[in-house]
Amino acid sequence: MLGIVFTSLIDMLEEKVSPDFADDVLEEADLENAGAFTSVGYYPFSEMQKLITILVKKTRTPADKLLYDFGYYLFGKLATAHGQVLANKKNILDVLNCLDDDIHVQVRKLYPDADLPHFSVLKKTETSIQLQYYSTRDLYHLAEGLMDAAANHFGDKIQRELVKLDEPHTYLFTIHLEA
Ligand code: HEM
Repeated sequence: MLGIVFTSLIDMLEEKVSPDFADDVLEEADLENAGAFTSVGYYPFSEMQKLITILVKKTRTPADKLLYDFGYYLFGKLATAHGQVLANKKNILDVLNCLDDDIHVQVRKLYPDADLPHFSVLKKTETSIQLQYYSTRDLYHLAEGLMDAAANHFGDKIQRELVKLDEPHTYLFTIHLEA
């Protein structure tokens, strides 16, 4: 998993709680690199899972909600670091429509070893999109936070549905853009 994901999580803890709290979490997680992340390094996903487990315990917040909130925050960081990726997009549906064949492709060019998910577009209209999400990391709550933050970025209002499909690690998102 890319370092910017870790550095963004730590930034979020420092901003939303406090730098001391972020330090405590890192110390308790007892990570291999003692929490010294760089945004362009790569680190095992298991280290992120350790951090989330500690946060669940310390904040008594379910992992689902933590991941959602983190996804929301992460979008801001990604959009700031890589604004050019969003430059010619006019709304949230535009972004969701081209995750696999544009946005995450550009990410892959910058970071060849990025662990990116798969988003296939099943159906698209002027006001809705159906997307199939596949990732062995099952970060669908992170995806929900990213989607809501992306909608907010464009000033769009959306309604979302999420269904777990029978195939492993596979989920169906339906997003409607409200008028
Ligand atoms: C609504 C829009 C987006 C959605 C739904 C989305 C979804 C996701 C998800 C769910 C992950 C976690 C990995 C996984 O699921 O296995 C991820 C990773 C990532 N995404 Fe996106 N993404 C969006 C937009 C963006 C944008 C705009 C950028 C860059 C400008 C970006 C860059 C990345 C990066 C750098 C990672 C980390 C890869 C790694 O850990 O190695 N994403 N994305």
